[in-house]
Amino acid sequence: MPMDLTGKTALITGASRGIGRACALKLAELGADVAVNYSNNRDKAEEVVLKIQEMGRQAVALKADVSKREEAETLINETIKILGGLDILINNAGVVRDSLLIRMKEEDWFQVLSANLSSVFFTTKSACKYMMKKRQGRIINISSVVGVAGNAGQANYAASKAGVIGFSKSIAKEFAPRNILVNVIAPGFIETDMTDALTEQQKDGILSTIPLKRYGRPEDVANVAAFLASEESQYLTGQVVFVDGGMNM
Ligand SMILES: NC(=O)c1ccc[n+]([C@@H]2O[C@H](COP(=O)([O-])OP(=O)(O)OC[C@H]3O[C@@H](n4cnc5c(N)ncnc54)[C@H](OP(=O)(O)O)[C@@H]3O)[C@@H](O)[C@H]2O)c1
Repeated sequence: MPMDLTGKTALITGASRGIGRACALKLAELGADVAVNYSNNRDKAEEVVLKIQEMGRQAVALKADVSKREEAETLINETIKILGGLDILINNAGVVRDSLLIRMKEEDWFQVLSANLSSVFFTTKSACKYMMKKRQGRIINISSVVGVAGNAGQANYAASKAGVIGFSKSIAKEFAPRNILVNVIAPGFIETDMTDALTEQQKDGILSTIPLKRYGRPEDVANVAAFLASEESQYLTGQVVFVDGGMNM
């Protein structure tokens, strides 16, 4: 039987573009109703909503800067109010502010830590109250291979993504008795606006480190997220799944 998310409700942060968008569309394709969070790109988020509604599911675009506690809390509450629940939370929103440490500004450090790590704390803390009462839930946090391997020029980003892994493993232990499963996806190089900013030379350098000899697509990540959100995945928590074409092994 194919994976089925009919009757499930999901919130994906940063779902207007890239990996978050692909996750929103995949979950909807499998039957879920979806809240599409964005921070600036209202038009792109509305496009995703329209596509989901065309599939016959409920969808709503919700603006919130998840690096801010109040906005993250409102986002969770709005999702539950509008969709009637929250079964699946995908913490995907993220940013980069790359530079070598010697030139890294304090604001670049805090911006990346806030957007990539504090955001996960804010949304999860708010969502878990609801999930704990229901004694069920799926939380999928998007980290990065860089959070495990490190990367020159990304000390802030790597620290935030390593933080997501430690945070997720800790809460996986806390929430297991309540049947809330928490897992991490660590993508490698995925073709999105985020990686579009790299030079051809940088991209070629990365390609040579990927055993599968191609960049990832947002759908490669979304397919794994859908599995982790589904009933097919029942005995998996606190894990980091590398979706990276074999970069990290
Ligand atoms: N692409 C890769 O190769 C790669 C590899 C490893 C991990 N990742 C991780 O995967 C996630 C998605 O990356 P991507 O490549 O799809 O990025 P992207 O194309 O740049 O899209 C980023 C998304 O996050 C949203 N966003 C950014 N800051 C936000 C905030 N403070 N509050 C709410 N939404 C916010 C953006 O909303 P707006 O459209 O409104 O700006 C957009 O929807 C990130 O966590 C990233 O670190 C990506």
